[in-house]
Amino acid sequence: MTATKRIGILTSGGDCAGLNAVMRAAVHRATLTYGWQVLGIKEGTQGLLKRPVQYQVLDLPQVDGNMMRMGGTILGTTNRGDPFAYPMGDGTFKDRSDEIIGGYRELGLDALIGIGGDGSFAILRKIAQKGGLNLVGVPKTIDNDLGATEVSVGFDTAVGVAVEALDRLQPTAASHARIMVLEVMGRDAGHIALSAGIAGGADVILIPEIPYSIEKIAEKMRQVKASGRNFGLVVVSEAVKTADGGEVKKVFEGGEKRYGGIGDYIGEKLARATGAETRVTVLGHVQRGSPPSPRDRLVASAFGVHAVDLIAEGKFDRMVAWSNRGVVDVPIEEAIAAYASVDPEGTLVKTARGLGISLGD
Ligand code: F6P
Repeated sequence: MTATKRIGILTSGGDCAGLNAVMRAAVHRATLTYGWQVLGIKEGTQGLLKRPVQYQVLDLPQVDGNMMRMGGTILGTTNRGDPFAYPMGDGTFKDRSDEIIGGYRELGLDALIGIGGDGSFAILRKIAQKGGLNLVGVPKTIDNDLGATEVSVGFDTAVGVAVEALDRLQPTAASHARIMVLEVMGRDAGHIALSAGIAGGADVILIPEIPYSIEKIAEKMRQVKASGRNFGLVVVSEAVKTADGGEVKKVFEGGEKRYGGIGDYIGEKLARATGAETRVTVLGHVQRGSPPSPRDRLVASAFGVHAVDLIAEGKFDRMVAWSNRGVVDVPIEEAIAAYASVDPEGTLVKTARGLGISLGD
């Protein structure tokens, strides 16, 4: 594909740490190795919907080392507004996918790098197929639930933030002889809770993949007390359900529902069952907003370089992925289909059990 001169890049879905590092790497590879121009599309597909199309030129002076350190995305992003059923604000929905295809053409793009999760890829792929766009995907999500890659950009940083929270909760828990419940993110998958709970020395880790009972958790807390320790650390993933199987969610503007509140539920039940003073911390978006960890910077950089190489090779409709200590690429279709929740028989669950951590079952 020698004629490729101009590529677009956009961030889509919820932000996380490492998005800017992907862009920085892609710009370096595209500019230094191939002499291409890179355009950053603003606010995900929203930028391609607007007229004039909203973008900024990303050149080398803009993507210095500082960009790699920065959390968030300099381009902006959105996790709302499916272009195939776009909310028009008056209760109606419209298929605006052709406008996005038009935006891509207006910019004269030869290819597009989409940095997103499974939801974003499903939409971007549908648009690419409809309009014949050359799409390459880079996986990002703090939830780490894309099965085709061992790791997604943003996960390691989110785990680091949750571990730091446990490091900070432990001394105050010990000082006041309390049980501390930490609610962490992870839409439908317990990867953050499991990794952070192990690395942060939790006594109990609750994940949506393993059913729990309050009595089992209370029993663990009693054992901890009987062993002479005056405090307990409990990590609960936001997607954990109540004892009767209910989801705990909050409703936001536009009727959007998000997980939130299971920590309070567990904290209250645990306090009643054990009589222990209990406090709850909801970590929330802190997990998404910090500077990327070294590991995320490395993965993001490797992904950005490989994504551009795929374009150079004319290999489209593929997502870069991490596998067996290196970067590979897989069909986006496969990547969307392969959802990865926590394996209840996997290494980390076994490790947690081996450490005497209760998983509530
Ligand atoms: O998918 C990433 C994620 O951070 C989830 O862990 C969380 O449930 C959700 O996004 C929060 O979404 P929002 O930023 O819209 O509140």
